[in-house]
Amino acid sequence: MRVTDTSDLWWKTAVFYNLDVETYLDWNDDGVGDLEGLAHRLDHLAELGVTCLWLAPFYPSPQRDNGYDISDYFGVDPRYGHLGDFVEVVRTAKDRGMRVIVDLVVNHTSDQHPWFRAARSDRDSRYRDFYTWRDEVPADQPANMFPDVEDGVWSFDDEAGQYFRHSFYSHQPDLATDRQEVRDEIAKVIGFWLQLGIDGFRVDAVPHLIDTDDGAEHGFLQALRGYVARRSGSGMMLGEVNLPYDEMVAFFGEDDGDELTMQFDFVANQALYLSLARQDARPLAAALSTRPTLARGNQWGNFVRNHDELTLDQLSDDERDEVFEAFAPLESQRIHGRGIVRRLPPMLDGDPRRIRMVYSLMFSTPGAPVLFYGEEIGMGENPSVSGRGAVRTPMQWTDEAGGGFSRAEADDLVAPLAVEGWAPEHVNVSRQRHEPDSMLRFVQSLVRHYRASPEIGWGELTLLDSGHDCVLAHAVVSSTGTLVAVHNFAPDGRSVDLDLSGLLGPDAGEAGAVGEAAGAAAGHAAGAAAPRLVDLLAERSVPEALAGDAHHRIELEGYGFRWLRVLRAGEKRLV
Ligand code: NOJ
Repeated sequence: MRVTDTSDLWWKTAVFYNLDVETYLDWNDDGVGDLEGLAHRLDHLAELGVTCLWLAPFYPSPQRDNGYDISDYFGVDPRYGHLGDFVEVVRTAKDRGMRVIVDLVVNHTSDQHPWFRAARSDRDSRYRDFYTWRDEVPADQPANMFPDVEDGVWSFDDEAGQYFRHSFYSHQPDLATDRQEVRDEIAKVIGFWLQLGIDGFRVDAVPHLIDTDDGAEHGFLQALRGYVARRSGSGMMLGEVNLPYDEMVAFFGEDDGDELTMQFDFVANQALYLSLARQDARPLAAALSTRPTLARGNQWGNFVRNHDELTLDQLSDDERDEVFEAFAPLESQRIHGRGIVRRLPPMLDGDPRRIRMVYSLMFSTPGAPVLFYGEEIGMGENPSVSGRGAVRTPMQWTDEAGGGFSRAEADDLVAPLAVEGWAPEHVNVSRQRHEPDSMLRFVQSLVRHYRASPEIGWGELTLLDSGHDCVLAHAVVSSTGTLVAVHNFAPDGRSVDLDLSGLLGPDAGEAGAVGEAAGAAAGHAAGAAAPRLVDLLAERSVPEALAGDAHHRIELEGYGFRWLRVLRAGEKRLV
């Protein structure tokens, strides 16, 4: 790769940040976050080093699924502002060097969407066929995504006199996305938001979206991506596909990655929690070692937590129980029989060493990091809020009542704030801005090092032998450089002896691309000066020559971690 490729395929090295306007900052003090509030916090995000905002659904909605139940695809919920405010946010984000992507939720609408209202009230309406109807419940019914809430995927609608299909809640009827009329409407939705200046979409529930009676229809996903690319040169799609790796591959597109641009890595995410529970790096290493190789334009989205439950559905029953036992001992902390409704810091009892180790790992794993708002300050959840709402509490800006989120009365807030040790009094942006050793400063430094290390987004992963089950040692190698990272999952220290000889050959790094200068990085040629290593996260660290046998010893503390940049002879990189 050339370093300038990072602005072409920008998502490969982007730092994503997901927030919900509703819970970010309430500028008019009515208790609900708004676009004007977000506009006032774009500088916080730019200062953190975020390069792409992912805005959770902000469209008009009855709000029965946190906005993922949309009743108008072309508007803004008036509680947050209006389209003009949206455009102001996008423009200002761009001014601060940040792109914006928005949620594309077109597997289903709200039952309050005018299409469904027309469809249910009139069999002859052109919108009837926008949804799927049956007189009887089909015998082979797939499982509903919320099995503890819904009996299945078919519900009877009294007004329509038929059953309709819904993969999620019964107030979210599935769109019949195999019909051309529906696809044409989806295209208008995509075209509309791209025209307003966004750079792409986080695509909701992709396997359901392209699911038909005859199996997954990848041609549709391919057509969507092609359309996005024609409307916007930089447009991308980051898809939610929680499936095993071998099934995810098809969603990138078997034809040179021409479907989803990126996918969240749910497999590594679930393995990460098993590794944390066992204090053993091997489950994560095993997952990463089976990660499929991607086409040049594709990327993994690495994440620690998101706005949903921490789903553990890809672990075996015994493994899931281990994670439940370690991190969600109470039944109230679990949901849908598969997930945990907590944020990371409370799961790790607030241990800063362990929390930081996890984020260091996320930022150094090949791919692009996706932060969930509040992670940069180590926010916790509010266990008294039921279900997934526990992790969707307002952003904590200051130690004031209302956490600096809003001056409205506590009862009028759109969601309760975190409480006790996780309350804004203890965890807030304002305080952490002034503390040199705060979580905020730490995450900021990870972002800075990630952005200065394009090999993490572009390079190839090599798992190294650390000599300890609890220590994950890996390298990412690209023609721009090599980074070695070491992470200790155990509470006690380890002495790690790394053999780096395999990383130093002249051919190490990803395959060449069109326009790439051959042999960009100098190799470890015989007679050349020895490569040097520099400890990126340490203060006052100076490059150290690598021993002749290319072995390097690291004394890792409990939950310790290191990022080592390998500087080859003649390398011009700044350290
Ligand atoms: C996935 C979203 O992340 C989740 O919050 C939502 O409930 C479902 N899709 C249904 O839209």
